[in-house]
Amino acid sequence: MDLQGEDLISIADLSEPAIHHILREAKALVPAARGEESLDLLKGRILATLFFEASTRTRLSFESAMQRLGGGVLGFGLVEGSSVTKGETLADTVKMVEAYADAIVLRHPQEGAARLAAEFSTKPVINAGDGAGQHPTQTLLDLFTIWDEKGTLEGNQVVLLGDLKYGRTVHSLAYALALLGSDLTMVAPPTLRMPKEILERVEEFGGKPEETESLSEAIQAADVLYVTRIQKERFPDAQEYQRVAGSYRIDLRVLRDAKKDLIILHPLPRVTEIAPEVDRTPHALYFRQAFNGVPIRMALLNLILGGVA
Ligand code: NCD
Repeated sequence: MDLQGEDLISIADLSEPAIHHILREAKALVPAARGEESLDLLKGRILATLFFEASTRTRLSFESAMQRLGGGVLGFGLVEGSSVTKGETLADTVKMVEAYADAIVLRHPQEGAARLAAEFSTKPVINAGDGAGQHPTQTLLDLFTIWDEKGTLEGNQVVLLGDLKYGRTVHSLAYALALLGSDLTMVAPPTLRMPKEILERVEEFGGKPEETESLSEAIQAADVLYVTRIQKERFPDAQEYQRVAGSYRIDLRVLRDAKKDLIILHPLPRVTEIAPEVDRTPHALYFRQAFNGVPIRMALLNLILGGVA
């Protein structure tokens, strides 16, 4: 299994053994991710982070991961600080940046942008979210969190809740969970159901996803509840967003009939979909999940940029 020099655009680019390999490597890198060990596996290598959309966790955890491996990071703070505001195309931006760095992490509002960037770049491109498309590194850290907590990725009952139409994290995660043998139940407001083509793809990966509007029923059987935010910025009109805003919320009352060892994940940021009172319960894993972005991205960068963990 060799990821050296490879792009990562969709989670579907990775085989099952490749995913397991990344998870194991990440586990070994946890002490270094916490700063308890110091590594220089990527000394002298440079990662460019190109974020054309807002980000807190993804960007910072990529930067932390690269620096924890002894490498360097460059990028513009905001799109406003780059020549994109002068009309430079993504293709030209990528051609420039590849001259300054050894790999590129790209987040962009347009679906397909990362694939396009990879065509123009001779250096590896990692998709950090392309519109409502895919978010493969988020999926790797989601899988890591489930695997680390449950000991396996097989046979878990996983409920995906929320904006399954525009949410890229759930698109990537649904493929991977199907491939790895979890049972999927999708719970979404009627206008935000998972797109048909993604459901079909999930079936190709071996999944038999169920869809329901009954959250309370789905929660009773769940081992993992993956909650997502309604992707306000992707709605073509604000009124449509207002009609669904706040239509689901996880609080202590909703969790009354949940399994004791149910774990709740959320890619974050959350808005109103998980009440803060849930944070104090043993179900809440979303902050640990956010930390897991560091060891996962360390493992991935190390495999792609050629170090040996
Ligand atoms: C997600 C994203 O950008 O898709 N955030 C993240 O990367 N942790 C989820 C979201 O914005 O709702």
